[in-house]
Amino acid sequence: MSQSPVILEVSQLTRRFGGLVAANNLNFSVRKGELLGLIGPNGAGKTTLFNLLMGLVPPSSGSIMLDGRRIDGLKPHKICRSGMVKTFQNVALFTDMTVLENVLVGGLQHLPVAQARDFAARNLERVGIAHIAGKKAADLTFPEKALVEMARALCTRPRIVLLDEVMAALNEQEMDQILTLIRSLRDQEGLTFIVIEHHMRAIMRLCERILVLSFGQMIADGTPAEVSSNPDVISAYLGTDTRLHGAQS
Ligand SMILES: Nc1ncnc2c1ncn2[C@@H]1O[C@H](COP(=O)(O)OP(=O)(O)OP(=O)(O)O)[C@@H](O)[C@H]1O
Ligand SMILES: [Mg+2]
Repeated sequence: MSQSPVILEVSQLTRRFGGLVAANNLNFSVRKGELLGLIGPNGAGKTTLFNLLMGLVPPSSGSIMLDGRRIDGLKPHKICRSGMVKTFQNVALFTDMTVLENVLVGGLQHLPVAQARDFAARNLERVGIAHIAGKKAADLTFPEKALVEMARALCTRPRIVLLDEVMAALNEQEMDQILTLIRSLRDQEGLTFIVIEHHMRAIMRLCERILVLSFGQMIADGTPAEVSSNPDVISAYLGTDTRLHGAQS
């Protein structure tokens, strides 16, 4: 992994909301093909960091480079076009539309509708849900919704995918299916992932490296074993309802 090039570089990134510093001087880089976890207690600033990366929230200061090009200040659709996509913490599907229609939206930025439809069908196959292409989004189960989100993200032809709690409502077996999919997209296609997840066992199993946020600050950056035994990380989680235990199982 250490040989692969840096795809994303965040320097001195800060975002204030009034008196609250939701991202406090963040510095990290991500290499192509990394499976990077992003954890931290509720309100730590994880979603804010994703919003900053995607241009949905402008930074107060600092810079973000994607493939050596500065992207902070660009509009979200430009950032998406340059190869980074994010899913939403609360799945935002068009409930009256079918799965295929929801997914093809992801491709409209770079393809005409007919081709976006074909590409969407291919991506439904890629994530293993071609059989529900005609199902109304309102009727989907939680694991189906998660896979639809993945397929829609893939339709943007990303090189780096930001997943914000896509596995939140899933049981162990359903989660395993998503973990296997993420790993195979990385192994076979070299995709890079940053994954926010409260489910520690899933994140510890999937990721080779984990960043830990607490009150907007990066308090740890290391392997699963390193972060789960880091005293700062353990104390950040004490008194929260997000438990670290089971992390190394
Ligand atoms: N648009 C906003 N305006 C004001 N404050 C905000 C805004 N967005 C986020 N915040 C605040 O920034 C802090 C970080 O929020 P954020 O949603 O990034 O946390 P999180 O780590 O994603 O939490 P969770 O695990 O609950 O999803 C919180 O205190 C939140 O209230
Ligand atoms: Mg969040």
